[in-house]
Amino acid sequence: MKSVVCTKLGEPSLLEIKEIDKPSVTEEDVLIKVEAAGVNFPDALLVQGKYQIVLDPPFTPGNEVCGVIEDKGANVEIPIGSKVIGLPPVGGFAEYVALNKNLVIPVNNDFDPLAGASLPINYGTTYYALKRRANANNGETLLVLGASGGIGTASIQLAQVMGLKTICAVGSDDKEEYVKSLGADEVVRYDQVDLKETVKSLTGGKGVDIVMDPVGGEVSEQALRATAFNGRHLVIGFANGEIPKISLNLTLVKGVSIVGVWWGRWTNTSPKETAEDFVELVSFVNDNKLNITPKNIYTLEETSLALDNFLNRKNIGKTVIKF
Ligand SMILES: NC(=O)c1ccc[n+]([C@@H]2O[C@H](COP(=O)([O-])OP(=O)(O)OC[C@H]3O[C@@H](n4cnc5c(N)ncnc54)[C@H](OP(=O)(O)O)[C@@H]3O)[C@@H](O)[C@H]2O)c1
Repeated sequence: MKSVVCTKLGEPSLLEIKEIDKPSVTEEDVLIKVEAAGVNFPDALLVQGKYQIVLDPPFTPGNEVCGVIEDKGANVEIPIGSKVIGLPPVGGFAEYVALNKNLVIPVNNDFDPLAGASLPINYGTTYYALKRRANANNGETLLVLGASGGIGTASIQLAQVMGLKTICAVGSDDKEEYVKSLGADEVVRYDQVDLKETVKSLTGGKGVDIVMDPVGGEVSEQALRATAFNGRHLVIGFANGEIPKISLNLTLVKGVSIVGVWWGRWTNTSPKETAEDFVELVSFVNDNKLNITPKNIYTLEETSLALDNFLNRKNIGKTVIKF
């Protein structure tokens, strides 16, 4: 089968497409014929050895897929031919992936594989962040930093499902256009205006209830300063490359909580709650409350281009590889 292989840590251009053996299944595994694989910022960090977890090459990146079960072990009940979303620990950027039966989510056979491959990481993370880490309430206001990115667009869409008003911070014209097309309530050009002052003025001086922060750097403190009393600042990632250092007195005087969000780790420690969230996310799609349409569709051979976009601040919306 064809697979992307990281043979040496470094720039995405070092990735190779190789013919390797189709994986075999153990008694607890399913073999998925992959129809689409989601591409994420952490993949670009992983192949460079810059992610929280450092893997020794060779390995195949890719942690979210959607496809059809082609083979299974003796202890797997889900039938061959079922459409599933899979969360492989690695190996998603390949024509086939074998993974434990507990790491798949069954979906209807007509579920769009491009939506399925887009759902786990961005929508899983932002739903966990809003629902379980921020305890978001209907009617609250959410400031989304890097709002046109993968995490950002999932935040905008889930905020709509959860009844939150969105203020979307973006850094270019095309990004502004994209978040408007998703129904952003307000857009702030944080490359042009003062983020804190603009957000304060958009909220009548009150500030926002929740900040979704996948960006880091100096905008994090500006966003924190633009939160309302009892606000929650969700720390998702540092796409900007700079980890901000915040004075703790800010949390005291503003009554704000800075809340860390590591979705991948939580899924390992809380499988029951993770499964509950996936049931809800899949039902949002099935009930047409959530329309997941990836903006960028690549071939397997174009994987390194897709990853470069994340590192060059060019990714807009969700990116998938279609097989
Ligand atoms: N905590 C978790 O469980 C979890 C889960 C998934 C992802 N993450 C992390 O979340 C972060 C964002 O992921 P994503 O998929 O949303 O990425 P993305 O699609 O590339 O979006 C990131 C956004 O950050 C902004 N940005 C500002 N400075 C940047 C720079 N120097 N390079 C790149 N982007 C920059 C960009 O928006 P503007 O140009 O508009 O500023 C961009 O749209 C990553 O650090 C990722 O590792 C964390």
